[in-house]
Amino acid sequence: MRIYEEADYAAVSRRAANLISAEVIRRPDCVLGLATGSSPIGTYRQLIAWHRQGDLSFKEVTTVNLDEYLCLAPNHSQSYRYFMQEEFFNHIDIKPENTYVPDGLAPDPIEECRKYDNLLRTLGGTDLQLLGIGHNGHIGFNEPGNEFVKSTHVVDLTPSTIEANSRFFPSPSDVPRKAITMGIGAIMSTRRVLVVVSGEDKAEIVRAAFMGPITPKVPASILQIHGDVVLVGDTAALSRLTETEVKACGF
Ligand code: F6R
Repeated sequence: MRIYEEADYAAVSRRAANLISAEVIRRPDCVLGLATGSSPIGTYRQLIAWHRQGDLSFKEVTTVNLDEYLCLAPNHSQSYRYFMQEEFFNHIDIKPENTYVPDGLAPDPIEECRKYDNLLRTLGGTDLQLLGIGHNGHIGFNEPGNEFVKSTHVVDLTPSTIEANSRFFPSPSDVPRKAITMGIGAIMSTRRVLVVVSGEDKAEIVRAAFMGPITPKVPASILQIHGDVVLVGDTAALSRLTETEVKACGF
């Protein structure tokens, strides 16, 4: 694992965008696994800025998102499809047909999961998977449990995730209770994992995920056995790692 310790969210976003743009420049037809949430917003803004300057094109890129709430329409303001359009896709030159997000309105969600795994297989997996980490250690919506679920699946969101995500909804009771998420298998088969974390409130889970035992109770801990993980965090989010740990993994 490599760790980049940055001063603040802006620097984290710039570093993460740098690593993504390197991938896109090196492999213009790469497949990017993307995430929603607060962590990657700055990264997307930086990528958009470089695109506007004429330094970066996504014309041949394909993207596959991690997850989507069940029962939210793509044009619902809290759906992850809507988030991706607003925060990224509408501002770059990616072909709309090359952007994939699970369909939260699929009449048969189990079939939608199967189709999503087929899609991932057809694409040959992702070249780079961007991830945030939930306070409970979830990646995508792979929530803490007794086993790592390999394939794309329908998940019951935990009370802590519902609580964390209620900040985007009028009230906690409006947060969908279920979601479709890419499984741990697809996440682990990406060539490179890029994790972005920011803020003191993530410090504890970052320590548990990267320095604690590998356990499905902390889904992100599985990343410890991926051969190419880059963790980009600000000083606050990395504050529970010792200097030696950061130095051992840093540049
Ligand atoms: C989003 C996702 C989630 C978030 C995580 C962190 O697609 O899959 O795992 O990455 O909940 O969210 P933020 O970045 O809002 O703290």
